[in-house]
Amino acid sequence: MEKAFSSYDLAGKHLQNRIVMAPMTRSRAGNPGALATDLIATYYAQRVSAGLIITEGTQPSIVGQGYPSTPGLHSAEQVESWKKVTSAVHAKGGVIFAQLMHTGRIGHKDLLPEGLVPVAPSAVIAEGQVYTAKGPQAFETPKEMTEADILQTINDFASAAENAIAAGFDGVEIHGANGYLVHQFISTNVNLRTDKWGGSVAGRIEFAVEVAKAVSLKIGSSKVGIRISPANPFNGIVEEGFEATYEALIKELASLDLAYLHFMENPMQNGLLTKVRTWWPNTLIVNTFVGEKVKGKSDLEYIESGAADLVSLGQLFISNPDLVERLKTDGPYNATDGSRFYGGNEKGYTDYPTLN
Ligand SMILES: Cc1cc2nc3c(=O)[nH]c(=O)nc-3n(C[C@H](O)[C@H](O)[C@H](O)COP(=O)(O)O)c2cc1C
Repeated sequence: MEKAFSSYDLAGKHLQNRIVMAPMTRSRAGNPGALATDLIATYYAQRVSAGLIITEGTQPSIVGQGYPSTPGLHSAEQVESWKKVTSAVHAKGGVIFAQLMHTGRIGHKDLLPEGLVPVAPSAVIAEGQVYTAKGPQAFETPKEMTEADILQTINDFASAAENAIAAGFDGVEIHGANGYLVHQFISTNVNLRTDKWGGSVAGRIEFAVEVAKAVSLKIGSSKVGIRISPANPFNGIVEEGFEATYEALIKELASLDLAYLHFMENPMQNGLLTKVRTWWPNTLIVNTFVGEKVKGKSDLEYIESGAADLVSLGQLFISNPDLVERLKTDGPYNATDGSRFYGGNEKGYTDYPTLN
């Protein structure tokens, strides 16, 4: 397993190893400005053994926020607040990208300022509930985006990316996975549009491609990654004919020369990953799927075999700040306290012990 622990050149950025901290929402920015805090800086700095850290989803605009206490990247104060995070990570030799996450229909007007409502490619409500200050509430029918809304949102992603660079991030990851706005456009059930932003494979991938282009134009494609989760039904997504959709999307994105594609594996994909490797010429990060098995050193096999260039791990990074050291011996690993994933204070966030 030497390869996983060896350095890697990510589009000109030197990574100390090939193990990535996956993006994870932790909802610790419970302040009026949705600012990054000292506690958030401590959390990321503790996890700097990762070759690359990808932050929790951060909203590129006010209306893009779908969960309580998630930080943003759309105001000057937010840019300022993230500087302490990026400098703490850089001081320890780390590399950190900000994930840009617009939740689209996954949200609630109670999470937004007066007058704003969640938006989506089409007015298709999600099943289930969302957590708000008043407790769990049913999702609402989102507002169908107009052409002007779509162009504005693409712009918002580009400005948030520019803000991320101003805040000291090494790059951004566009969240195109898990049923949020970009994925809603790719889907066949939330995108019922008949204009150029829907109606066909080419239409459904258009928003993802235009966001990637706009962001690349603003900060340079070597600082841009994108995350996808083909055939993942999370948040009520249906993707009929997903293989043809993702073949078109990935080939289109490949022409933009982005830093990386972050692929989330799942059992519904029927071996798609092997094909993705042939469609995607640049760095491929894989977030492995192991089902009931426990994650650990065996996930790094993807790097050894060449199935992936880098492997991302999520929950293990929550509970093991020194995860890379622990992977070398395949444990012991601290248990993860799921009850403290979202919100709260340093408990279950920055108080996990290291081996030494
Ligand atoms: C608490 C928590 C929050 C998450 N938040 C995000 C997020 O903001 N953006 C994202 O792309 N994925 C998010 N994920 C998914 C993880 O990035 C990862 O894909 C998932 O946990 C599977 O990897 P793992 O088995 O190594 O944890 C989250 C996962 C967890 C456990």
